[in-house]
Amino acid sequence: ELLNFCQIDTENIDQCSKYLVSLDGAEGRLSKPYHMSRVSKYVGLQNLWLQPEGYNPSGSFKDNGMTTAVTHAKLVKIKKIICASTGNTSASAAMYAANENMDCDVYIPAGEVAPGKLSQAFQFGAQVVEIKGNFDDALSASLKQAGQIGGYTVNSVNPFRIEGQKTIVFRVLEYLDWNPPDWIVYPGGALGNTSSCGKALMELYEWGWIKKIPRLAIVNSEGANTLYNLYNGKFENTELRWNKGKPDTGLVSRYYDHMDKNNLRPKTKATAIQIAKPANILKGLRALDFTNGIVTQVSDSEMLDGMALVGLNGFDCEMASGAVPAGVKKLIEQGIIKKDESVVGILTGRQKDSSIPVDYHKNPQNQFAIPPRS
Ligand code: F0G
Repeated sequence: ELLNFCQIDTENIDQCSKYLVSLDGAEGRLSKPYHMSRVSKYVGLQNLWLQPEGYNPSGSFKDNGMTTAVTHAKLVKIKKIICASTGNTSASAAMYAANENMDCDVYIPAGEVAPGKLSQAFQFGAQVVEIKGNFDDALSASLKQAGQIGGYTVNSVNPFRIEGQKTIVFRVLEYLDWNPPDWIVYPGGALGNTSSCGKALMELYEWGWIKKIPRLAIVNSEGANTLYNLYNGKFENTELRWNKGKPDTGLVSRYYDHMDKNNLRPKTKATAIQIAKPANILKGLRALDFTNGIVTQVSDSEMLDGMALVGLNGFDCEMASGAVPAGVKKLIEQGIIKKDESVVGILTGRQKDSSIPVDYHKNPQNQFAIPPRS
């Protein structure tokens, strides 16, 4: 009836299916790989797939692991969960705590959390604790508090988070009939995703479910690039460099001391990944070693362009997720990702800071801006 009403020729199958596809889109976005033609064209790679994890219930990939962590907390009869967050972890923790009638304390770096994320923590009834400092300071404070009061930490240092986040990789592979892509790409923050993806691939390979190991590419922000520096030996005035295949766990603490001594603080507009000391760095490095992975870095403006282009394909993502198309573009330009390879990138979260796309599009200097007209 709808097709007749719209005067669409129902005899013409091609035309009908075209409209049915758009009706299908109205049912909701799924967390599976999509081909986004404008992004593909921009980065120069046909075989590029992007999996938006922002369409999970709280608007980011965190739900994949928060559900498992909160399930465990419930099984062991926990009354209060605690986390530190740049905003998405706290939104997810607060949501599931409210579902399960648990208390939830969230430690956030004051003034550094996107308004949409902060509003979720309040709305779901969490106790917000504002910490002067950055995410790393908030994490220390929350771990200390959890130790003192016996609260249950749901940051990605919790192994149940890492287990749950493996489902991101399972969905990628399920969609590709268990034929792994050449590359899987994530933004890098606290490196929970990097660790869980590595663990998933190790296990699937060991069990014979996959015959090939995709290479991990992790994209840091230039303003919060500890992993990039450490993995590639780029850190100024030091000899510190991860020796691939010969793990030296003391290296990380020496590196962190070096950062403290020189008062190096992370600074990026992509606040989700504004992290100096990734809590999962050793597991992340193990994942990179296992997958013959690489680490690159991108600027704030490159992330914004990536984010804007995803939007122009009808999917929204936040700035930190824009690191994925930006990083893939860079790696192709550098000849590291080859033009005939297949890549799946994970768009980690939905846009929760409306000022970012508005400011981007109002500025005609931006590459993909569509400025308002009066
Ligand atoms: N992308 C988004 C949208 C994030 O919120 C985060 C982390 C990351 C990427 C980085 O992922 O830690 O697995 O490397 N957000 C955390 C938070 C820190 O508190 O919401 P990672």
